[in-house]
Amino acid sequence: MNRREALKAAALAAMATTVASAYDEKLIVNRTKMKIADPKHPTKAELKHTPEITVGEKDAAGYTLVEVTVGQEGIIHPSKADHWIYEIELFADGKAVDKVSLEPVISRGYLGSRVKLDGIKTLTAVAKCNLHGDWESSVTLK
Ligand SMILES: [Fe+2]
Repeated sequence: MNRREALKAAALAAMATTVASAYDEKLIVNRTKMKIADPKHPTKAELKHTPEITVGEKDAAGYTLVEVTVGQEGIIHPSKADHWIYEIELFADGKAVDKVSLEPVISRGYLGSRVKLDGIKTLTAVAKCNLHGDWESSVTLK
């Protein structure tokens, strides 16, 4: 690789990094794994952060629609410049199957995925709030 090619490769790598993470990583101030203190009586703040997993219909190829929204009972987590859900991860029986990186203001806490659920027993989602930490919920499949 000559100098010109090396500079071009470096410039492309820098652009890719910029695009991959448009928001300021310094805004993520809490990476604590959180839990609902009293699962029978969750607070509004807890409901606002807990991912809700919805299992939809299976398509012709055998992939089922799985949607994750944050949070629960109609309480939607805000998406402001300084407070938003920056990432959602989806696991099937503990294996990572999807992950979204979300930008503040322009997008909110949502993930939609098509997953082959044959033999899968549990779906787990983790929603990550830049201020209030990582919140997990699971559903058991029949
Ligand atoms: Fe939050």
